[in-house]
Amino acid sequence: MMRAKSLNDARIQKPRLLVVGSKGFIGQHLINKAQGLWDVFPADCQVDASEQGTFPVDITKAESVRELFQKVRPDAVVLLAAMSDIDRCEEHPDQAWEINVQGPENVVRSCAETGSRLLFVSSAAVFDGTQHGYKEEDQPHPLSTYGRTKHQAEMAISKVLPSSIIVRPALVLGFSRSAGTNAFLNRLAQALREGKAVHAPADEYRNPIDVTTLSKIIAELIQIPSASGIFHVGSLDSLSRYEMTRQLAEGMGFQDSQVIPQTGSKPGRAARGKAHLLLSERILKTCGIQPGTAHDVIRRSLDGFAESSI
Ligand SMILES: NC(=O)c1ccc[n+]([C@@H]2O[C@H](COP(=O)([O-])OP(=O)(O)OC[C@H]3O[C@@H](n4cnc5c(N)ncnc54)[C@H](OP(=O)(O)O)[C@@H]3O)[C@@H](O)[C@H]2O)c1
Repeated sequence: MMRAKSLNDARIQKPRLLVVGSKGFIGQHLINKAQGLWDVFPADCQVDASEQGTFPVDITKAESVRELFQKVRPDAVVLLAAMSDIDRCEEHPDQAWEINVQGPENVVRSCAETGSRLLFVSSAAVFDGTQHGYKEEDQPHPLSTYGRTKHQAEMAISKVLPSSIIVRPALVLGFSRSAGTNAFLNRLAQALREGKAVHAPADEYRNPIDVTTLSKIIAELIQIPSASGIFHVGSLDSLSRYEMTRQLAEGMGFQDSQVIPQTGSKPGRAARGKAHLLLSERILKTCGIQPGTAHDVIRRSLDGFAESSI
């Protein structure tokens, strides 16, 4: 009788997915998307007693990461935890290095020790933006501290665990359920609601991805045993950040005259590449997911607007 029960339990057990950085913008969406496919274990650095089910971890501390892995025993890990604010990384390079490089080094070492598969979210900022269209094999040349930390983390991960997956988005659009994350749309909606003018670069081009499609790609990609190496994710075409912001404002029902085009560098703003168009054929071939045009991505990213009053 006991034996039959345990066989049954084993049959219904889903693989265990640890999401590190689960309270951030992408993490919140990924957890919802991954639930059906995985037994999901969220982890982040600031967890209070009321947040049952979320594990505390500081990825800059090897011991903290090791303890988390002992508790969760993950089959797979998605690493989202980072200092994701590009300008903050420029102001605090030591802290950026600690979180964005030493953190991933600690996580990949624990993955290697426990035999867990790793998916790391990197960034288009590993490129200098001087080329029209980047393939996965193009040589990185970061312009900012943030970009350099992401490139260094990619190299450390590929060295320790070459079977890891590295996903590079250029700009992720969507709403976060909580304030204080890296979600650009929450900040934009807030400024527009307050009637403020929003300045957006007219000379920086990006091919965005909406957070729902990105989460779907991550959840599916990490299930494919043969998938490894770098994957670019983004829309088929790119738009200037000004044009993108103007369309987003319009889509949220605001006057697009609130969005002001801006060119040239701004004091305190870290260097950004001009053209980040990440060519995403590999992801289409591997998962069959096509994010569509930048316009399609913008339209999908506005889905959560009605509920976002943060
Ligand atoms: N959003 C985008 O447009 C975009 C584009 C390209 C790449 N990415 C990359 O995608 C990943 C996820 O981005 P996101 O937009 O979701 O960023 P996010 O909203 O800033 O989320 C990152 C999460 O990691 C946590 N964290 C920071 N330091 C930690 C530490 N030492 N230990 C454990 N957790 C820590 C953060 O907590 P605190 O907030 O308390 O610090 C936050 O909850 C990042 O690697 C980012 O660089 C994002």
